[in-house]
Amino acid sequence: MEDKIIDESKQGASLTIEAKPNNSRKLYIESYGCQMNFSDSEIVASILADQGYNTTQKLEDADLVLVNTCSIRDKAEQTVRKRLEKYNAVKRINPKMKVGVLGCMAERLKEKFLDEEKIVDMVVGPDAYKDIPNLLKEVEDGRDAVNVLLSKDETYGDVSPVRLNTNGINALVSITRGCDNMCTFCVVPFTRGRERSRDPKSILEEVHDLASKGYKEITLLGQNVDSYLWYGGGLKKEFKNASEMEKATATSFSNLLAMVAEAQPKMRIRFSTSNPQDMTEDVLHTMAKYPNICDYIHLPFQSGSTRILKEMNRQHTREEYMQLIDKILEIIPGCGISQDIITGFPTETEEDHQDTLSLMEYVQFYFGYMFKYSERPGTMAARKLEDDISEETKKRRLTEIVDAQRGHSASRTKQCLGKIMEVLIERESKKSDGDWSGRNQQSLVVVFPKENYQPGDFVMVKITDCTSATLIGEAVGYSKNQ
Ligand code: 5AD
Ligand code: SF4
Repeated sequence: MEDKIIDESKQGASLTIEAKPNNSRKLYIESYGCQMNFSDSEIVASILADQGYNTTQKLEDADLVLVNTCSIRDKAEQTVRKRLEKYNAVKRINPKMKVGVLGCMAERLKEKFLDEEKIVDMVVGPDAYKDIPNLLKEVEDGRDAVNVLLSKDETYGDVSPVRLNTNGINALVSITRGCDNMCTFCVVPFTRGRERSRDPKSILEEVHDLASKGYKEITLLGQNVDSYLWYGGGLKKEFKNASEMEKATATSFSNLLAMVAEAQPKMRIRFSTSNPQDMTEDVLHTMAKYPNICDYIHLPFQSGSTRILKEMNRQHTREEYMQLIDKILEIIPGCGISQDIITGFPTETEEDHQDTLSLMEYVQFYFGYMFKYSERPGTMAARKLEDDISEETKKRRLTEIVDAQRGHSASRTKQCLGKIMEVLIERESKKSDGDWSGRNQQSLVVVFPKENYQPGDFVMVKITDCTSATLIGEAVGYSKNQ
């Protein structure tokens, strides 16, 4: 089983509760992949709300069907292909329905999509969403429409997202787009282009707007948040040519975190994803300083073998990763840390695999996202290295990794027994309508009887029981943050 510990329950169709009463057309939008894609779909829904579209959760009712796609692994692309078959069946009954493909797979396959998937009318890459109104006109005139241009400066900072599938409590706020790291396994630099940062002013405006609408927790999003850099110019790499003034007034990720935490001290702040090679100590000090920044870091390490890390073009060694973990725990004791791991990267030996397991043992991650290597066309690894680890070996190594993680998760949850911790209530528990489900600062799910508490409340919960993935407890009162 792949990526067992991922909560994929949210993947799929989205509905907004902010429908515009005068809009008569219906948009059905489905999202796959990372949080960034979900955040992008909210931008697309906003652009289309101005074109007369409200969202629907019924595919059959849609005038326009959009699927926001992921290319990270072959499996993600196969899921989308299956969905396109389903749309095709509906289109046979309702030929007026238009179908558009957005996101990373659109970027990767470009015009080819129109030939391969006859039912697709429109192909739009991640930086071209503002062009959708024009592209729709083309489609209405009976022409296929494609825009897959990548941009050096598009951040959608001026688009106010329409919140999809929202519980009114947690929201995603995008802060950077693209990635410049060029890990050899990864398709993202090809599908999402150069890394660029969003103006902190527009980030703060969005955060204030969310607070005024009652949201309680935001996640600052980027492929690599640690390299956030705003100096009024464009790309981070051009910063060296910036004026003295721009350099003196630049905003780093740690500055941005502090600004957001101070602007909304009652809101919980999270961020994702961190990169070991770019994470700086001042980010850790900022996290320690502001109680509303959650003590939690998602810190992918991919492999515990320095040799494999080098093949992956990661700019850190096993030892540097371990030192970073030590530093995190020194500055933020009790910080929750989660991982991403790829197993079966080309040339990975049993010894390399053991290095991954022993690094996991050292860190004892709270949870993680674990994957078999999937060769992606066009990446450096696909061009230079043979995908030489058999499916059987990949499967076996993944099982060993997932089992190890399950053990570490279980010991992390056990450590919480008897403790009282702050939980933000997010929704009803999936298993029992008498219980709330929320998360603690370390991002562990906590379930407890509802009593008179409400979603969005910050509650102190005493942990009385646990599984490897969930804490179970009872409320002992409101948090002082409430
Ligand atoms: N094969 C398998 N997993 C991958 N990831 C990225 N590219 C690949 C690939 N080619 C994983 C990494 C990354 C996460 C988002 O997806 O672990 O951190
Ligand atoms: Fe998938 Fe990566 Fe694109 Fe996100 S950025 S949708 S994870 S390929």
